[in-house]
Amino acid sequence: MGRVFVAGSINMDVVAAAERHPRVGETVAGSALLYFPGGKGANQAVAAAKLGAPTTLIGRLGKDAFGEQLRTFLAVQGVDLSFVKDTAETHTGTAIITVADADNTIVVVPGANALVDADDVAAPVLAKGDVAVSQFEIPQATIATFFKSVRAGGATTILNPAPASKFDRQLLDLVDILILNETELGFLTGRELRDSDSRDRFTDAARSLAGRDKIVCITLGKRGVLALVQGEPLMVPGREVKAIDTTGAGDCFVGALASQLAVGSGLHHALDYANAAASICVQRMGAAPSMPTAAEVANILDA
Ligand code: RIB
Repeated sequence: MGRVFVAGSINMDVVAAAERHPRVGETVAGSALLYFPGGKGANQAVAAAKLGAPTTLIGRLGKDAFGEQLRTFLAVQGVDLSFVKDTAETHTGTAIITVADADNTIVVVPGANALVDADDVAAPVLAKGDVAVSQFEIPQATIATFFKSVRAGGATTILNPAPASKFDRQLLDLVDILILNETELGFLTGRELRDSDSRDRFTDAARSLAGRDKIVCITLGKRGVLALVQGEPLMVPGREVKAIDTTGAGDCFVGALASQLAVGSGLHHALDYANAAASICVQRMGAAPSMPTAAEVANILDA
């Protein structure tokens, strides 16, 4: 069995629940203040670990109370933290989130995540069958170093370019599987895309990023996922559920897909599995604590 290595962010999510989002300059009353472990890297690692893949997280925490709480939480989820460093130079990454009507707005203050560097990602040794995952809440130069070295060992690389940010072709060339939503795809391809757009429109946009042999997966919420495999579209439908908080659902998808590829599943099954996992995640409040177990996903797939 392969292993999953996630190089990425670890945040404490400070969440205000409200009936609706405030407009710019407006104040609205919240209904609850909640603290959830989060950060795209940590969320993806928790999902992969809970879904049965041996999972290592590479990242940084501040030497503060949030850092201690996150370390304890992640260890309990079964994530290997041997490559998570404590750094005294700055605070633990923190995300300020408003959740209203199942949707969120997020401001991330990176703190220690911005210090994850080439030495941090050079330490673990990956092999063929392993899966390396990253996202855009740590420096892009660090991700490039990570992917370059793990590819030399034969591992598969997955990039989730979120939050959307411009990146150069050299990094894209180090990616085997690109996973992004329609907003990120629109940003990276300079097109106006909506989740209600046609498959052809997404396929056309994805082709411009796919190059010769990259797999591009566009997550489309309850519509499911559209994957471009060797230039051909493959639609795997999602599930209609009542969402209460979509924070971390994309991360759940990424972690679940990585776990399934690491345990040797084919791509079609891994996509269906990841859709099912994300459909559970959105029915719970919070990011990392919402990641499902393998038994929960199996229940859905068997139904
Ligand atoms: O993708 C969701 C995550 O984005 C949250 O957990 C928050 O920490 C931000 O990083």
